[in-house]
Amino acid sequence: MEYKQEYKIKLVSKEFLNSDTCYLGFECPGIANTAKPGQFVNISAGTQFLKRPFGIASTDKDNGIFYIGVKVVGKGTREISDFETGALFDCLGPLGNGFVFGDYENIILTGGGTGVFPINFAYECLTSQGKTVEVCEGFRDARQVILNKPGYVLTTDAGDIGIKGTVIAGLDTIDIADTSKTLVCCVGPIPMMKAVAAWAEAKGMKCFVSMEQRMGCGVGICLCCTVKVKDDGPDGFKNVRCCKEGPVFDSREVVW
Ligand SMILES: Cc1cc2nc3c(=O)[nH]c(=O)nc-3n(C[C@H](O)[C@H](O)[C@H](O)COP(=O)(O)OP(=O)(O)OC[C@H]3O[C@@H](n4cnc5c(N)ncnc54)[C@H](O)[C@@H]3O)c2cc1C
Ligand code: FES
Repeated sequence: MEYKQEYKIKLVSKEFLNSDTCYLGFECPGIANTAKPGQFVNISAGTQFLKRPFGIASTDKDNGIFYIGVKVVGKGTREISDFETGALFDCLGPLGNGFVFGDYENIILTGGGTGVFPINFAYECLTSQGKTVEVCEGFRDARQVILNKPGYVLTTDAGDIGIKGTVIAGLDTIDIADTSKTLVCCVGPIPMMKAVAAWAEAKGMKCFVSMEQRMGCGVGICLCCTVKVKDDGPDGFKNVRCCKEGPVFDSREVVW
């Protein structure tokens, strides 16, 4: 039987990035030392029965800390963000497959909304390996902008900061020397990932998307997180588990 990583983790830092999104650091060397970009954790949410999944946003291996960003959208995320440092959580992780960057020389990372958290982790790992990385992030408006770094291409729907439009408008400004050596990785809302996948495919670039289905167990048992992927069978598709076979998929495999 496959071994699951189950931990009791301590909240050691908490910072609000904007009115409804906080950045949390948890002490857990087991996750900090083994997590790969694109993987996630499933953490307890106060009085809520089910744990909630969050992409890993960063790790600090020296101090055994990993970070997640939590946007408050309901009871679970409200309760998680209400805890103070010192609080203990139950946690499963690191979970899922994560991105496979392979031999690609150039990587374009693009994130929308809370998708910028896993994109941040990917950026940290790739730059520490000396890869050429371009980042394009998209938000609704200036108030939503989080984790933006110098050199990133920034877009907003409102146009009150950065390029006005979706991330496609930002991606179009990036100089791509050789599309055959460039990989695109995208995390964000479905319409955004679908548009980025079409953009990358039209240019002949491989594109990974990270699906954020609603989850229950997070470890492949409850089957509530299915994603449709293409298949040679009579239906033309099959259901796979986002938490186990994903959350990262080749965009050409996904039935949108
Ligand atoms: C692999 C993965 C990685 C994720 N990474 C992050 C992250 O880094 N930061 C972050 O803030 N959130 C992330 N999410 C989404 C996060 O898990 C949900 O927002 C959270 O579970 C909602 O819990 P809740 O009890 O507050 O809301 P609920 O009361 O359960 O739901 C409130 C609202 O949020 C919507 N919602 C719930 N789950 C999801 C989901 N998975 N995707 C889209 N909408 C949802 C519901 O439809 C509902 O409208 C991720 C989800 C997955 C599957
Ligand atoms: S969340 Fe239970 S199988 Fe994926």
